[in-house]
Amino acid sequence: MEKKPIVLSGIRSTGHLHLGNYYGALRNFVEMQNDYDCRYFIADYHSLTTQPDPSVLNPNVRSILAEYLAAGMDPDKCTVYVQSDVPETCEYYTLLNMHAYLGELEKTVSFKDKARKQPNNVNAGLLTYPVLMAADILQHKANFVPVGKDQLQHLEMARNFAQRINHFYKADFMVLPRPYEAKGEPIKIPGLDGSGKMGKSEGNCIYINDDDQTVIKKFKKAVTDMTPTEPNSEMNEPIKNLFYFLKLVSAPEVYDQFLAAWNDCSIRYGDLKMQIATDVLKVTAPIRERYNEIYADADYLNKVREQGAEKARVEVRKNLDELRQYMGFRKF
Ligand code: TRP
Repeated sequence: MEKKPIVLSGIRSTGHLHLGNYYGALRNFVEMQNDYDCRYFIADYHSLTTQPDPSVLNPNVRSILAEYLAAGMDPDKCTVYVQSDVPETCEYYTLLNMHAYLGELEKTVSFKDKARKQPNNVNAGLLTYPVLMAADILQHKANFVPVGKDQLQHLEMARNFAQRINHFYKADFMVLPRPYEAKGEPIKIPGLDGSGKMGKSEGNCIYINDDDQTVIKKFKKAVTDMTPTEPNSEMNEPIKNLFYFLKLVSAPEVYDQFLAAWNDCSIRYGDLKMQIATDVLKVTAPIRERYNEIYADADYLNKVREQGAEKARVEVRKNLDELRQYMGFRKF
């Protein structure tokens, strides 16, 4: 059988899944399952660099895992695991650390950011965050990593470590991971506050788990500070954003109808928002229902975890042993 390229991605274990994640990343993850050897994991070690709180760690990992499964990640098609269930990662990370330089780690944008945001907790894990991420990737010999802009520098560092190690040991066993570029226009979900994108730190998210009333309320509150007074006027950003949503979730006829109403100045924003909210719920409500079932089913979740870790560890063990060999850890 032909070997499929390996795609690997880590998922942050904090925060809930929102429409930005869903359309921006998760839908691609789900699509890729069929064409690649996909390995997805919840990055719970990484979360400790900013939030070492045992009382939230476990429920966070559980809800993220349940959300991704509910949204279509299929453990029979790909490898889904929890990072800390594959402790080989720690050993790989230790070995990589010997080839990572303080200077380059200190210069990482994310490190400088976090150090500024949490000046009382500039821990070594924060500094070596990119090394742990490189371990995640390199231990799988991943070919592709689907990453957003904010993670590109980390991926670049993983490539550098891989290349440096190949060079140092005069070998080419390390695979240099490349960013995975999704086909077509990337979908960027705007916020409903008039400008910018939807994001957790922006505090403007529609969560997949929001109940119907919450979703409707959030759309009702969406900024629309302009009513057209002349036919065919130019839209400002908040209105464009609403139309972007409409195009994404509603039927083409419905979109055309509202566009016509905009163009002849008969548009009613209340109707527009209600339409979008209703169509967003058509996407999110079934996921939410599945999520509730899956979240409650600890046995199922534990089984998925175990099965995922078992699959991942077979591959990772092999690659870790190879690195150990090159570094000189051998039997007498
Ligand atoms: N750092 C990534 C983020 O914050 C999560 C992550 C951890 C990751 N390890 C990874 C992503 C490996 C891709 C590959 O989103």
